[in-house]
Amino acid sequence: MHFSFWAAAATLLATCRLDQVVAVAVPDHNLAERHANGKIAPKFFIISMFAPEADIWYDNLPSSGLGDLLAVNISTPGLSMLYPHVHCVADYSICQVTTGEAEINAASTVMAVALSPKFDLTKTYFMIGGIAGVSPKEAALGSVALSRFAIQVALQYEFDAREMPENFTTGYLPYGTDFPDEYPTTIYGTEVFELNEALRDIAFEYASKANLSTSTDAAAYGEKYAAEGPLYTAATKGPSIVKCDSVTSDVYYSGNLLSEAFENTTISWTNGSGVYCMTAQEDNATLEVLTRLAIEGLVDFARIILMRTGSDFDRPPPDVSAFDHLRVLDQNGFLIAIDNIYYAGVEIVKGVLKNWDCTFKKGIKPTNYIGDIFGSLEGESDFGPGSLTEGKGYKPGGNNPDNFKRSSVPGKAIRKRGALPGPVVRAAQ
Ligand SMILES: *[C@@H]1O[C@H](CO)[C@@H](O)[C@H](O)[C@H]1NC(C)=O
Ligand SMILES: *[C@@H]1O[C@H](CO)[C@@H](O)[C@H](O)[C@H]1NC(C)=O
Ligand SMILES: *[C@@H]1O[C@H](CO)[C@@H](O)[C@H](O)[C@H]1NC(C)=O
Ligand SMILES: *[C@@H]1O[C@H](CO)[C@@H](O)[C@H](O)[C@H]1NC(C)=O
Ligand SMILES: *[C@@H]1O[C@H](CO)[C@@H](O)[C@H](O)[C@H]1NC(C)=O
Ligand SMILES: *[C@@H]1O[C@H](CO)[C@@H](O)[C@H](O)[C@H]1NC(C)=O
Repeated sequence: MHFSFWAAAATLLATCRLDQVVAVAVPDHNLAERHANGKIAPKFFIISMFAPEADIWYDNLPSSGLGDLLAVNISTPGLSMLYPHVHCVADYSICQVTTGEAEINAASTVMAVALSPKFDLTKTYFMIGGIAGVSPKEAALGSVALSRFAIQVALQYEFDAREMPENFTTGYLPYGTDFPDEYPTTIYGTEVFELNEALRDIAFEYASKANLSTSTDAAAYGEKYAAEGPLYTAATKGPSIVKCDSVTSDVYYSGNLLSEAFENTTISWTNGSGVYCMTAQEDNATLEVLTRLAIEGLVDFARIILMRTGSDFDRPPPDVSAFDHLRVLDQNGFLIAIDNIYYAGVEIVKGVLKNWDCTFKKGIKPTNYIGDIFGSLEGESDFGPGSLTEGKGYKPGGNNPDNFKRSSVPGKAIRKRGALPGPVVRAAQ
């Protein structure tokens, strides 16, 4: 009895490798897991930002055999008025929420879900799946990018370019600096997030199985960049799956100069590791929430996938004005970008669910630093001014050693707590 049990287990382990469908009937102890402590514990959570990104899953997931996301609707305080439910398939293995657009909506909704007593998300894989602007240097319209870094590029001072000093190349100026290419000296903490590269690479392999939607009109728009020379070849080649990074800005910027300025910011703030590629309005907000909740042990920051698909180029092709590019001409990338969220995304969902017991349940160990620029999670980052927690990470419940710095300005001590000396009359300046 014992022998045959272990023999069967050994066979299962032997066949249990990534990218392999385990054709052995595994007893379904999963239902119990999904309802651990009476809570819903999805294996996979899709984060969409607006209706078209969500509808593509509602319309197509049933035909994949993975279930219907409209089978269960769950409300919880703090969700968007426009998108008031978390949606799950009937067995709760996959859930989805729509945050609403830009940073405030993304942070609010994800915080509401993660703090909801209805969910246990400690083992859940999150995938941000949305459309984005795409750099024509990195990929074509409809392409799918899986990112390691997310950069909040507009977290800077800004002058209207008509009033900027003559020796500036952009009106954006990193906090605490006097020249655009300097490294910021005041850090808010959400400037850069780094995700689990090993998980990103597995997601890339899964997504690469997809047949992507293409469009001859979008391809024709991409062809226009050929005149820019070899640096822009990617734009002309049609949709593909790529590994490159995602920037966040509430401002939906467009044009050569801002795109190039934020490309420079990405390189500077990731200390040269980041590849500026996709531009969207939410990722860093979502990642900030997941960082805070990872400190409390409510989510696992090593289980986040950031996938963005290119719906429009961030800058115009030669001989097209920035205004015409954004507001007049139709780039025809929107529909294929929406389609490809599903086509690439569903392969990632399938891969994680099929290989759950042997691989994903216990997690994919990161080999790179993961977390934010503060060093809020354990480890030393390869970007930023150095960990505020000496690589130890913040402790749950606010129980941190006194020596953890709290200043966002490196090197600047925070006044020790104590009674104020009483009101003073301040001298006129
Ligand atoms: C869930 O909500 C959607 C609309 O968002 C609706 O179409 C669907 O019928 C609802 N499902 C259930 C089980 O009520
Ligand atoms: C830019 O010009 C200002 C004067 O307008 C000068 O103070 C500053 O040093 C210059 N910066 C660089 C990096 O050249
Ligand atoms: C946003 O997140 C990305 C990736 O996680 C990170 O590289 C980037 O620095 C973040 N930016 C901000 C401003 O938080
Ligand atoms: C992609 O298309 C090929 C050829 O039609 C087909 O064999 C394959 O199954 C498709 N892949 C997916 C993931 O649908
Ligand atoms: C980006 O950086 C390069 C190299 O430092 C510089 O030549 C260029 O002017 C910068 N672009 C912008 C828009 O700031
Ligand atoms: C990143 O670059 C900044 C500016 O050059 C530097 O101060 C910082 O130490 C670098 N961080 C790492 C981890 O190399």
